[in-house]
Amino acid sequence: MQIFATKGDITSCGFVGAIVNAANNSLLGGGGVDSAIHAAAGPQLLKECRALHGCETGKAKITDSYDLWENCKYIIHTVGPIWNGGHCDEEELLYSCYTESLLLAMQHKLYSVAFPSISTGAYHFPLKQAAQIAVKAVHDFDRKYPHTIERVFWVLRDERTHQAYFDAISEIIKPCNIDDIIGFHLPTEPYGFLSNWYPAEFNSVGQHFTSSEQYMMYEKVRQAREFDLAERILQTDDPSEAQKLAGPSSFTTFDSISDFWDKHRKTIVKRGVRAKFAQNPELLRKLLDTGNAVLVECARKDTNWGIGINFCDPAWHDVHRWNGDNLLGVLLMELREEFRHELALWGTVQASDYKESAPNAAWNMFAGQLKRNPVYYTAIQCYADQLKSEDEKNSFYYGGCLYDWEIAMRTNMGGGLPISGFYEMKQEVYEIYRRQSVR
Ligand code: APR
Repeated sequence: MQIFATKGDITSCGFVGAIVNAANNSLLGGGGVDSAIHAAAGPQLLKECRALHGCETGKAKITDSYDLWENCKYIIHTVGPIWNGGHCDEEELLYSCYTESLLLAMQHKLYSVAFPSISTGAYHFPLKQAAQIAVKAVHDFDRKYPHTIERVFWVLRDERTHQAYFDAISEIIKPCNIDDIIGFHLPTEPYGFLSNWYPAEFNSVGQHFTSSEQYMMYEKVRQAREFDLAERILQTDDPSEAQKLAGPSSFTTFDSISDFWDKHRKTIVKRGVRAKFAQNPELLRKLLDTGNAVLVECARKDTNWGIGINFCDPAWHDVHRWNGDNLLGVLLMELREEFRHELALWGTVQASDYKESAPNAAWNMFAGQLKRNPVYYTAIQCYADQLKSEDEKNSFYYGGCLYDWEIAMRTNMGGGLPISGFYEMKQEVYEIYRRQSVR
């Protein structure tokens, strides 16, 4: 289990299986984090909470996440003890809040949970003591139920609270040792299968690739509609050649899409890396076997996809010395968690192009039908807004359905529409449908 303390707002902490609400016995909302979560989740949350008929102190109940679905699948409501000088079992009750919340998460096959600092606001539990109890409860849970919950975050509002939990984690949990961090770089080095240069065949965006590096370079030049260059990249199995073709000497129009690429590169690359692992079971198994380790691309020259430190430099073991964004390591860890969720939910993982999996009803909905659904309409609107010329907008609004649009895109290589914008929209529409269909 990885345990983190971060500062921020728990209603926007990035995707986790569940966020935990520091509620009161009525479960009908209140102040502090309770009010923030109810405000963000929308009125349907209160409606479901009413039907729960309250919750005892130290216990926990679970609801849907409603308008918070982009941040979490569920909300777990737990009621912390009000501090009374320590004479009314406050410590045991606070410990129970964490244990009960994690038991609910485990029963719902969730792998990650985000907690606030329970009881240290309106309920006045002494902060340092609360942090120690909280971290000990989570640590004890991990030892009692190993390999169930993989990641626990505390999302803390202010520096003083953040420091208290950071100190408690440092004292109670062994420091993150090098076994919890896996470095990788070249395909020939340990864990080389994680590298984009590792030879792995897969299909995505209607083409066949021999490495995710080739896919990445192909997609990069396609954003600028450099289709001849894209075809040349498809012809080589050598990742370094593919990289050169997408480099400044050949790809001279990159500046025209650099902002777009900065914004969407992780999503676009993640689609290809997903296809690499989803279509190569042996590689998928090796990725899942990395447990909860932090995955780190040790590339000295790459401070975007790597950490700017070489694999042979032991400094990469020290998180505090990294000086890159490690985008590849991050998207690999995200995919590892998504694959686990999908295996737990469906017994299989999602192929990269949703068309290759069992098409859902949204797939064949026509533009008119899609637009009647306000959430789909938003996705389509967002996509259409990025279209530049009027005729592109018009061609996008003709009465086809997602499937027709994709065929049109593939057959004439993007027929007038920016390819990845289409896929972002399609992914967003699919995701919305998938979440709605699993509720
Ligand atoms: N994200 C993360 N943490 C938050 C947020 C937020 N959006 N808002 C507040 N917090 C922090 C507070 O700063 C505090 O550190 O959550 C911690 C818990 O404070 P409270 O929300 O007051 O919770 P608690 O002390 O458990 O008291 C619960 O207060 O809000 C009412 O209805 C709630 O009656 C219940 C009582």
